[in-house]
Amino acid sequence: MKVLILGIDGYIGFPLALRLLDRGYEVYGADNFYTRRRVKNVGSKSAVKINSFATRNKKLNNAIKFYMGDVSNPKFVYDIIRDSGADAIVHLAEQRSAPYSMISLKTATETLDKNIESTMNIIYAVKDLNRDIHIVKLGSMGEYGTPNIDIPEGFLDVQFHGRSDKLPFPRMGQSWYHLSKIFDTYNLMLANRIWGLNVSDVMQGVVYGTRTPEITKYKLFTRFDIDQIYGTVLNRFISQAVIGYPLTVYGKGDQKRAFLSLEDSVECLNLILDHPAEKEYKVYNQFDEYYPLNYLAETVKNRYESIYGKKVSINHVPNPRVEMEDHYYNPANQNLKDIGYRRQRSLEDEVPVMIKDVRNNINTVYSLKNVIKPSTNWR
Ligand SMILES: NC(=O)c1ccc[n+]([C@@H]2O[C@H](COP(=O)([O-])OP(=O)(O)OC[C@H]3O[C@@H](n4cnc5c(N)ncnc54)[C@H](O)[C@@H]3O)[C@@H](O)[C@H]2O)c1
Repeated sequence: MKVLILGIDGYIGFPLALRLLDRGYEVYGADNFYTRRRVKNVGSKSAVKINSFATRNKKLNNAIKFYMGDVSNPKFVYDIIRDSGADAIVHLAEQRSAPYSMISLKTATETLDKNIESTMNIIYAVKDLNRDIHIVKLGSMGEYGTPNIDIPEGFLDVQFHGRSDKLPFPRMGQSWYHLSKIFDTYNLMLANRIWGLNVSDVMQGVVYGTRTPEITKYKLFTRFDIDQIYGTVLNRFISQAVIGYPLTVYGKGDQKRAFLSLEDSVECLNLILDHPAEKEYKVYNQFDEYYPLNYLAETVKNRYESIYGKKVSINHVPNPRVEMEDHYYNPANQNLKDIGYRRQRSLEDEVPVMIKDVRNNINTVYSLKNVIKPSTNWR
């Protein structure tokens, strides 16, 4: 099978490419190195050292056919879909930071414009060039927000005034980034309804981890961001523990979010590619477990203290985000289990490995200590 990975230089895209190559897929990829540039602009870089994409691909004997370009450019998207002859497209190439989208009007509209345009380009190119292509699109569990009822996978059975229907579950995203993903969701749903496109829309939880078996095998790391704009919560906690800084928990820390390891994220995407949507719009809630932030902080603290014998403190800081800090949360993830997903790596398995990899890059983490603290305020 030919798979075109959009965003192949990214945190998930690169290990996914390694997995697919090892499983015998023909792998094509595109990227414009947007994340590398944006992370540099906030004074940061990947805390785990990574090489350029060209160097990494060279170590793979240039096994990946790479296209350099911007997926918000329609001509580029039409050209690479035509040239690759892809059977499936995994679309990861979006502005993926919620805090970045909340900095200003400019970053909000940049996020909305670029993300919605890129998904629309893919939709139209697939409709015009080959409607059999399977589109695997990365959305976010954050699209749902934190409703006071269970979260199903995409749709809700509704009874109203004596009638019933299966309707899209209300999306209550809490940043412009999440809103951009919600627009993508509705655009993909419509494309399936009117043109029968094959869509797997992946509502992904927060991904953590530094390794997959292929990263270890090829000694080719993927990026690991720790700054307050691009670094996700567990990455920041681990980096703070490693340099002896208090773990900064936003607000009360009872906010619950869905998580999964990098290994599980990559394996789920592989499973979804093996089970193409057939003229359907299929939603997968892609996560392993959900935890309150306090549980993550406690896990990092306990593991670090027990392995390295050094004290780790936890500091609750004013929450820069506008979000509920104590709420109900119960999302489903049955659709992935139905196609064979079983957890490969738990949080407890992964935290010590992450700590070790980050400790191996301790000088970089020290040099980035000032960009870990929150400075983007949702208000
Ligand atoms: N990492 C997570 O925890 C997480 C959680 C939920 C959803 N997601 C989604 O998964 C996808 C991948 O996330 P990631 O963590 O690998 O992010 P990433 O930023 O590391 O990777 C995205 C890649 O896409 C590229 N890119 C961005 N815009 C582009 C454009 N217009 N043209 C070409 N290339 C472009 C970037 O340069 C980068 O290499 C994103 O859509 C993100 O929103 C990620």
